[in-house]
Amino acid sequence: MSDPYFQNLFADRIGGAMFGKGTALYKFEKIKRAKRKALADHPERRLLDFGIGENDSMAPESVRRRMAEEINKPENRGYADNGIPEFKEAVARLMQREFGVALDPVTEVNHCIGSKTALSILPACFINPGDVTLMTVPGYPVVGTHTTYYGGGVYKLPLSAENDFLPDLELIPADVARKAKLLVLCYPNSPTGKTATPEFYERAIAFAKQHEIVIIQDAAHGFLSYDREPNSFLAVPGAREVGVEVHSLSKGYDMIGWRIGWVCGHERLVRAFADTKDNFDSGQFIAIQQAAAAALDDPEIPKRTRAKYRRRMEKLVATLGRCGFKCQMPGGTYFLYTPSPKAFANGAPGGGPVNFENAEGASQYLITEQSICTVPWDDAGAFLRFSVTYEAADEKAEDALMAETESRLKNIRPVF
Ligand SMILES: Cc1ncc(COP(=O)(O)O)c(C=O)c1O
Repeated sequence: MSDPYFQNLFADRIGGAMFGKGTALYKFEKIKRAKRKALADHPERRLLDFGIGENDSMAPESVRRRMAEEINKPENRGYADNGIPEFKEAVARLMQREFGVALDPVTEVNHCIGSKTALSILPACFINPGDVTLMTVPGYPVVGTHTTYYGGGVYKLPLSAENDFLPDLELIPADVARKAKLLVLCYPNSPTGKTATPEFYERAIAFAKQHEIVIIQDAAHGFLSYDREPNSFLAVPGAREVGVEVHSLSKGYDMIGWRIGWVCGHERLVRAFADTKDNFDSGQFIAIQQAAAAALDDPEIPKRTRAKYRRRMEKLVATLGRCGFKCQMPGGTYFLYTPSPKAFANGAPGGGPVNFENAEGASQYLITEQSICTVPWDDAGAFLRFSVTYEAADEKAEDALMAETESRLKNIRPVF
């Protein structure tokens, strides 16, 4: 089949004339395909799905009820532009109540259609060709992707176990720091599960001031903090002089598909975001903003979500520990990021060992041969990510799933 006339028109940022012809598979697409194959090849074997990065519960009933009311109000039908005051005011109340951060809801808060869109828009506010964004890896890549769309570069800051999964800002070369405009942090961190101490934030703020860099702190997992109370970067002295924090109702409020979050912090940064956003979208549906505002006013919702995922995480850490994994309770998130096995001593079909060069190999083996779905990370050491967002109706079902996981893993004898 010949190419359409527009094949040569695709922008370089998506592959130019080669767009649509590559065979390389995005990691998560590979996992989805392997999952489908495992289900087709082994219908008798239950898929143990630790690969999903999405909450398994619906939004709370109170929020859905409120949504049902709001959806029928004629005044909610139109463009929301940069958002309704009720949502911004609920954000300001929450930031004060939960984190002790006082914000002006008019100038220091703006809603977004999920934090992913905010992270995709913020580079448009800063990045000219040749500018640099400092990004931690492994991590959520959206700011980096859009930085390159605008002709900027990404400098990767590895998160290693040796440095306690914090970026070592001292190692950034002077010429990179000079070109850098953005430093992206994400705490509680996805996927490592690390939470940030106020001391780390203080160091990052000093670094940002020294090199005149803006910090974007991605708090998508903000309420899923276990080793310390959920907290805000903006509560640290100096933070609001250098950056913004991006929040989401996706994870802590079980509202992942609703697409609602907010950007808050320095007034001028929030205004740059809002002005730019105004050229991307016309705001989230007002009914969703109203229901989300009601959710933010109920402190019990994120507490419940946090308690559930903490309980599931404790069970997973104990289960994997009994199978030989060297894992500890993460500081936060619903991800357990743990060193990947180098081999399974009894993994070969007739018995005997199977070895792996990296986490990707171990993860592929687990899904195809054991119907255990994980996400591999090989950016800074070989790690597997187990998510506790699997579907289980109650604690009994959680325990049964853990027992099955333990039995399958013990049988193949992980080697580290
Ligand atoms: C670290 C991180 N940031 C941001 C997001 C985007 O979340 P949302 O767009 O649903 O708010 C995710 C989603 O998985 C995430 O893991």
